Amino acid sequence: MKKPALLVVDDLSVEFTQRGGAPFGLGRRSLAAVNHVTLELRAGEALGIVGESGSGKSTLGRAILGLERASGGAVTFDGMRVSGGARADMERLRRETAMVFQDPYGALNPRMTAAQAIAEVLVVHRKVPTADIPARVDELLTLVGLRPELGARRPASLSGGQCQRVGVARALAVDPRLIIADECVAALDVSIQGQIINLFMELRESMELGLIFIAHDLAIVRRLCDRVAVMYLGRIVEEGPTEDVFRSPRHPYTASLISAIPEIDPDMVLAPHLLAGDPPSPMRLPEGCTFHPRCPKAQDICRSGQPPSERRSTGRRWTCILDTKTPANEPMEVS
Ligand SMILES: Nc1ncnc2c1ncn2[C@@H]1O[C@H](COP(=O)(O)OP(=O)(O)O)[C@@H](O)[C@H]1O
Ligand SMILES: [Mg+2]
Repeated sequence: MKKPALLVVDDLSVEFTQRGGAPFGLGRRSLAAVNHVTLELRAGEALGIVGESGSGKSTLGRAILGLERASGGAVTFDGMRVSGGARADMERLRRETAMVFQDPYGALNPRMTAAQAIAEVLVVHRKVPTADIPARVDELLTLVGLRPELGARRPASLSGGQCQRVGVARALAVDPRLIIADECVAALDVSIQGQIINLFMELRESMELGLIFIAHDLAIVRRLCDRVAVMYLGRIVEEGPTEDVFRSPRHPYTASLISAIPEIDPDMVLAPHLLAGDPPSPMRLPEGCTFHPRCPKAQDICRSGQPPSERRSTGRRWTCILDTKTPANEPMEVS
């Protein structure tokens, strides 16, 4: 039987107001950082969120955990509505979820030892009786592959990979059911990245942890995630099982991101399809499909009107108007 969803994100939007140069708030403009995003995650499932810098990945992650105020839509965690929900529900969300951040040193207090940093979380969340804290700290250090002796060290005398493991141990200290990892291996050496990813894979299985793994590195997402969602200018433009999306991307933006991966499969038929330039500002979204100014396949119908609506087939969805004639399950031709 299919497990019920652990997390449902329904039509979620986050807007930021940016002040322009004009006085009296006249230059205020709003920016749609997250634009009508819908997602689901099951226990034990890993969902990758990819997209260029500025596409809204971090804001989405923060809004899911209630760290950013949503301007529309809803987040439901384990059946309870948490966005704009009751205080008690928000508190439960805080107790059962955790976020792991990019900067392994910056996320830790330099004056605290690794053991103190982990103990702090146990105390704040009243996870174990005071007398049991040291034993639980050792257990968590061991769980993330650190020798308990390292607990006595401060961040300055730990490596980047070790600090990131302490960050993961702090996240695990709340016994989370959902972890959102935001570019959490980007600052680490490749071999250390691999170790942290293996750690997440193990935890996901052993603890039925739901994982949202935000990354701009598609190769890592391919290794770790069951499904992948591709974001462009605040919207999800494609989502589906990772292997399907990598082998036959339906959206030209996904195709461009994939062809930029260096160590791509030799048997993949994708020709280079490189992304030129940067995405436009989310304050001035292009008309029609927001990707059209950079899309190698763009035609007149892509350049005006509403953004293309979602198309679906067998566990996949994407938003490209040019794909209407593609029969279900036929890969889009990428030239
Ligand atoms: N606190 C904020 N105030 C105003 N704009 C913000 C804020 N945080 C993010 N943004 C803007 O929202 C958009 C999405 O940012 P972000 O979620 O950080 O993207 P990503 O994580 O994909 O790089 C960007 O245009 C960014 O400049
Ligand atoms: Mg980010």
